[in-house]
Amino acid sequence: MDTNLARLQRITPTEADSFADTVLDGLARSPKEIACKYFYDEAGSRLFDQICELPEYYQTRTEVALLKRHAGEIAALMGSGVEIVEFGAGSLRKVRILLDAAHNPRAYTPLDISGDYLSDVVRVLAADYPALTLRPLVGDFTRPLEIPALSTPSRRAGFFPGSTIGNFKPDAAMALLRRMRSNLNGGGLLVGVDLVKDPVRLHAAYNDAAGVTALFNKNLLARANRELGADFDLDAFAHYAPYNAAAHRIEMYLVSLKRQTVTLAGRHFEFAQGEPLHTEDSHKYTIESFREMACRAGFSPRAVWTDEDRLFSMHWLESR
Ligand code: TRP
Repeated sequence: MDTNLARLQRITPTEADSFADTVLDGLARSPKEIACKYFYDEAGSRLFDQICELPEYYQTRTEVALLKRHAGEIAALMGSGVEIVEFGAGSLRKVRILLDAAHNPRAYTPLDISGDYLSDVVRVLAADYPALTLRPLVGDFTRPLEIPALSTPSRRAGFFPGSTIGNFKPDAAMALLRRMRSNLNGGGLLVGVDLVKDPVRLHAAYNDAAGVTALFNKNLLARANRELGADFDLDAFAHYAPYNAAAHRIEMYLVSLKRQTVTLAGRHFEFAQGEPLHTEDSHKYTIESFREMACRAGFSPRAVWTDEDRLFSMHWLESR
């Protein structure tokens, strides 16, 4: 085993049990729903990586370009000897740009809900960065959690890219920012935020021609079949992701194509023809509306970067 790579440490209870509870509870509601964090098992994490490469999904490409262009400034704002804590680490591709620019980073602490996926990707990173202390954590950052201190603690810099903040309703997003602030012990936070724009462009990003987003959305049902023994017929649901302009968000659904009954853990759930199952929201902000929310969450927005077309934004927030 690589000496710079700590063992995977779980810091919130396993989500396996809560997946069953969440699905049972969500299917009993009206309208039906399943929380989007359950997209990210190993299969879902890999499908999401494919979404990031899609021609219509401008977010990843634009954010990576912003990170590259401003890595020097970001490194200076993070400061020397910093511990970088990533919330929802995924493929670990973006953080390489920060690690390459950072001044003598003390450690990198990726936190992700999918332990299987994290343990795979972290091994590759450890081999590429042999001098870096790597401390992978498995946990659900939508719940209160404590990030254990290093043997010699240093200033923390949070990293929260991908506009994941948009997948929370504004109240929950604010509560999450507040909790991150307390996890960072007075450090800063680099956060990527997708911007309000032409609805046609937004719509295309969540309704790709190749149908990868549809597969990703349906993986939720496939996962329920795999892990919980449910009997969802994947062909009897349609991926549907309209942009709600008044609420500034993409809303994602799986719509039942016919009247059907789904059985799970001995319980039966009726779907009417055309009935939606809500799986995700992706809120879009203006630079100003996001900065305002960050202020209300106890941060001082210090820097913001955006591309020429104002598709995406990166914000550096300092705790106050
Ligand atoms: N944070 C990403 C976003 O809102 C997540 C995402 C992108 C996503 N495409 C998706 C989630 C499709 C579910 C389905 O853009």
